[in-house]
Amino acid sequence: MEQNYIKPPVEVRYADQLAALEASDTGKKPENWRLSPKAVRTFILGGEAGGVKIPRKFYGNDALVERCIITLAGSRGLMLVGEPGTAKTMLSELLSAACCGVSTNTVQGTAGTTEDMIKYSWNYALLLSKGPCREALVPSPLLVGMENGIFARFEEITRTPAEIQDSLISVMSDQILNIPELGDEGLVLAKPGFNIIGTANTRDKGVNEMSGALKRRFNFETVMPIADVRLEKEIIIREAEDMAKAGHIDCPIDTDVAELLAVTYHELREGRTAEGTVVEKPAAVMSTAEAVSVYYQTISHSWYFGDGKTDMGLLTENLLGAVCKENKDDLEKLKAYFRTAVTAKAKKVGGAWKAYSETAGLLR
Ligand SMILES: Nc1ncnc2c1ncn2[C@@H]1O[C@H](COP(=O)(O)OP(=O)(O)O)[C@@H](O)[C@H]1O
Ligand SMILES: [Mg+2]
Repeated sequence: MEQNYIKPPVEVRYADQLAALEASDTGKKPENWRLSPKAVRTFILGGEAGGVKIPRKFYGNDALVERCIITLAGSRGLMLVGEPGTAKTMLSELLSAACCGVSTNTVQGTAGTTEDMIKYSWNYALLLSKGPCREALVPSPLLVGMENGIFARFEEITRTPAEIQDSLISVMSDQILNIPELGDEGLVLAKPGFNIIGTANTRDKGVNEMSGALKRRFNFETVMPIADVRLEKEIIIREAEDMAKAGHIDCPIDTDVAELLAVTYHELREGRTAEGTVVEKPAAVMSTAEAVSVYYQTISHSWYFGDGKTDMGLLTENLLGAVCKENKDDLEKLKAYFRTAVTAKAKKVGGAWKAYSETAGLLR
């Protein structure tokens, strides 16, 4: 399966690691979980299982991952909040795949999400021919989760209107969903193992608009951007390698360029350079995920149109596109960053930084 899909679900992509963890798992397990909390932690933070190496997948805050696992073993939902691109979706997929073997039982929150997408809807052809019956019911991921004792993921929940979000409240407090149309058979009780993982971007319509009643049914965890530049560089390299492999792009990853991007993103996000110069922060999201996509875009371009080597001009142009898409003041901030920080590093370290600084003229 892995070779034939753009992005196989986590449980398929890491099937052998999950199987190795399951086979050697001796930890205590909540009812209906596929792996014990200890094995889930190993899956996400790395280690070893029955001779199989398990690479780390989430970086930055190990204690947060443990708290997430414990929350999910209890009766409150887990809400991951943070800037876009801080791996909230990735973490919720990893947790779902490891705890219940399924990461695809998902509702995507949008402004158009309706209550039936959260609870249930009907196949109208069957409803008309057979009347309200189980066969005619189209269960939502929430209902599937309750009936199978697995997690339902609610992506970007705060993009959904607050009153629609609130349809989760009764399910989360009573662990019951009532389908009045089905009469006596309409009472669905949640099986052990059911829980909800929500994600919310702080840049979207605020978490503040979520009702207090719903907030109380979740444990909130804030996922921060990666604070360590070296780690960010490693992630850029690893992700770009994975994407290149999946896209059949056979370019070597230029680690100097990955470093330069990691530093650029880090310094613009923090508003301060490694040398201590204050720089203005762009309004755009400066996430690791964006850095990965700028890099991938660049090598992909070189692969199809160029000679396969990372072209610094292309990198800068892609960076420009990524940073200046929301706000025109960001262009001035990026130019200023090149004038100060990039020029200083070009003098100090030379190499890729020098080539990078020579592309400043493309920022317009
Ligand atoms: N702490 C981190 N550990 C590992 N990868 C990260 C981390 N932060 C960001 N990433 C990278 O960013 C990508 C985007 O994450 P995603 O889950 O889509 O973010 P979000 O849902 O928070 O917007 C991840 O797939 C991963 O490559
Ligand atoms: Mg997301």
